Amino acid sequence: MGDEAAGGAASIAANREILPANVKPVHYDLTLEPDLEKFTYEGTVVIDLDIVEDSTSITLNSVDLDIHSTTIIPENGSEFKASSISLDSDKQTATVKLDQTMRAGSKIKMTQKFSGKLTDHMAGFYRCSYKDAAGNTKYIASTQMEPTDARRAFPCFDEPALKAHFTVTLVAEKNLTCLSNMDVAHEKEVLNADGKSKQSVTFSKSPLMSTYLLAFIVGELKYIETKAFRVPIRVYATPDQDIEHGRFSLDLAARTLDFYEKAFDSEFPLPKMDMVAVPDFAAGAMENWGLITYRIVDVLYDQKTAGAATKERIAETVQHELAHQWFGNLVTMDFWDGLWLNEGFATWMSWYSCNKFYPEWKVWQSYVVNDLQQALSLDALRSSHPIEVPVKRADEINQIFDAISYSKGSAVLRMVSMYMGEEKFLEGIRLYLKRHAYGNTTTSDLWAALSQVSGKPIEAVMEVWTKKVGYPVVTVQEKPDQKVISIKQNRFLRTGDVKPEEDTTVYPVVLRLKSKKDVDETVMLTDREQDLKLPELDFFKLNADHSSLFRTRYSPERLEKLGRDAKAGLLSVEDRAGMIADAGVLAASGYQKTSGSLSLLQGFDNEPEFVVWNEILGRLGAVRSAWIFEDVQVRDALKTLQRKLTSSKSHELGWEFSENDGHVLQQFKALMFGSAGAAGDQKVLEAVKDMFSRFSSGDYSAIHPNLRGSVFDLVLRNGGEKEYNVILDRYRNAPTSAEKNTALRSLGSAQQPELVQRTLDLSLSDEVKAQDIYMPLAGLRVHPTSIIARWEWLKNNWEAVVKRLPPAFSMLGTVVQLCTASLSTEEQLKDVQEFFKDKDQKGFDRSLEQSLDSIRAKAGWLRRDRDDVKSWLESHGYLGESKL
Ligand code: BES
Ligand code: ZN
Repeated sequence: MGDEAAGGAASIAANREILPANVKPVHYDLTLEPDLEKFTYEGTVVIDLDIVEDSTSITLNSVDLDIHSTTIIPENGSEFKASSISLDSDKQTATVKLDQTMRAGSKIKMTQKFSGKLTDHMAGFYRCSYKDAAGNTKYIASTQMEPTDARRAFPCFDEPALKAHFTVTLVAEKNLTCLSNMDVAHEKEVLNADGKSKQSVTFSKSPLMSTYLLAFIVGELKYIETKAFRVPIRVYATPDQDIEHGRFSLDLAARTLDFYEKAFDSEFPLPKMDMVAVPDFAAGAMENWGLITYRIVDVLYDQKTAGAATKERIAETVQHELAHQWFGNLVTMDFWDGLWLNEGFATWMSWYSCNKFYPEWKVWQSYVVNDLQQALSLDALRSSHPIEVPVKRADEINQIFDAISYSKGSAVLRMVSMYMGEEKFLEGIRLYLKRHAYGNTTTSDLWAALSQVSGKPIEAVMEVWTKKVGYPVVTVQEKPDQKVISIKQNRFLRTGDVKPEEDTTVYPVVLRLKSKKDVDETVMLTDREQDLKLPELDFFKLNADHSSLFRTRYSPERLEKLGRDAKAGLLSVEDRAGMIADAGVLAASGYQKTSGSLSLLQGFDNEPEFVVWNEILGRLGAVRSAWIFEDVQVRDALKTLQRKLTSSKSHELGWEFSENDGHVLQQFKALMFGSAGAAGDQKVLEAVKDMFSRFSSGDYSAIHPNLRGSVFDLVLRNGGEKEYNVILDRYRNAPTSAEKNTALRSLGSAQQPELVQRTLDLSLSDEVKAQDIYMPLAGLRVHPTSIIARWEWLKNNWEAVVKRLPPAFSMLGTVVQLCTASLSTEEQLKDVQEFFKDKDQKGFDRSLEQSLDSIRAKAGWLRRDRDDVKSWLESHGYLGESKL
């Protein structure tokens, strides 16, 4: 197994599409002068190159740039002639041919003058817009280089392993703020061709770093600053924002940097840290070294108008990007197939630190119902991929920023940290960071450091998890007379149709066997099957606290017994939530009956914990959305079940918030309120009506921030045009981006066809930025008619969608997935396949495959359990005469 895996890694590396290694960049001197009226920029780059082999050509990356001139000057000698330059738009390269041979061991300076466009694709050096107080549209220029768009900003050797030093100069109007990764080294006045006086700002030389971490920003910006950390930290925003809303992130950043320096025993090496709220931003945030960029809602927090969930998201994002300053920026993956070393780590680290700063948030509990489930969910599709997946081209690289790299990656780290113990794990991390600072690594380097400090064979246990796709379902059979359980592992697929050739991997499973006495942290399943002797069989559970990556399949009797054990207090919150998740997913995949999972859910009506409820409602939600095109009576019965489950808890918790409500309680109230309301609870709906009517007459504080999304959603589900217009108006006029987004996300809940159409039209209109298109679309999921309308809309507007979101950038895949993954019948599956059959799927092929797989899984589930669910609903009184 080890050998095979190692061979796999070698071939991954051999198949990479990378630049020739005949030269090596050492230093870039880059000057850029953006024009915020023409949306173009002029640039000059001087690259110091070491010549590694005798050569007559230089190939570097460049996309959509006009390279005007290239000169090459050897260290000692006179200028070489560049005889020609050729561009390869497919490989995204420019090749300079020389009339002389550059000798191995020598050094040259290559200078290129070029110009580029400030596009609005949120990649490379691009433009962003915002409205000033007078309502005029204003622009700033900003960058997003990761993964492979530095080559859109300037000609460069755009690979993570080709680290170099950078000295950046920005030339701009004097009233504009210029920022880059480093602090300002010197500024001077320059007169440009038309005699205008401008500032030329040169930043200090950067440490050795990868191109994808470079950043520069030019625009009208204001800031707040803290000196609470060793180096100054600032939060910047455009003038339309209230900069004080950056205070929470600013203070958290100071504490977090300090915490990380100590935890990693490694000083943050840059002279400052700037964090900027960028008005147009494709992702949530980007960890550029010393200049982190954020989507506005992920960094600016208005305590008065935002809820607990928003605060948690911002804290997570800030701590994630700051963790990257070490994991990714200081120590960088060798190539993109090692992306998980960046993203898995930053994700794990953000919880680790969040848990230290806000223990009352209980983020490791949320992890079980959020990231762990996302990982297990995607990785149960045939179209999933190993954590370390060969990727060659830009469009392939873009698509692996997914739940495998982030969530499975962090789950693997959670697993190994529990296996080693958190302290040892951190010790290993410190060693890894020290050993590889300013360098590049592969996954083996990480395992080596962890093995060294722990003395345990970490690589042998862990490499399967990153090199192989999927994870197992562990089936438990009991032999009560011998006090033995027989366990067996098989690859788990959501479609429930694993073929023998797909079931060849034997995963080293950390079983974490829980008994009345304790948790056995060492016992592992390293073969396909194994017998385990237990002291007694009255109570046991595998995967204690769900920190391992597998699902457990118990007998129906044992599952019922575990339900009772849960009530008796033998299971932790994580155990209860994880067990409910496993049971629900196994039912959806045909390993068990859905009726059994519904009975289990029903038994949890007295559950006291938020996280467990989150999972209960998530599982019921999964049934309801797979059943969304089924008979209305059955759908109503499921809704009645939801009401039965949630009403009393939501009434008990109430929907008033006080100063003393903890972070989790606030979210608990909001969750139960929203679910009960969506299930038709009359008391909740009356409260909604009351809040919304006060809100409509201008009292915006009538809806508590924690409830805003639910109230909008419920009002629209049950309302019409009048309500729609009030919420649309709020989208247009609310003072903060967070509030605007809540409105935009809920518009899709309206049912009338005209309103569905308005939401669809709105998503492609000028009123919605490209960064937000997915929000109104995501809302169209509560009525079967809107799911179908959304899919029809995508088919009818395909060209327009592709034009707005070109496949070279990352958002097309999101939209394809959104518009297709809620479908659930065989006919719909065929329709989707038919539509995309002749289309070029570059840039979204992975998303589409995953969507198709998830439709297949739902269609199979319905085929198997349609009658089972119906008869369960009947026999429990939810269907037919006796409506509860
Ligand atoms: N490195 C990513 C940003 C990124 C994402 C670049 C996709 C290129 C493609 C950044 O560190 C990140 O992971 N951001 C997350 C936020 C985080 C809290 C999970 C994001 O953007 O959602
Ligand atoms: Zn990240």
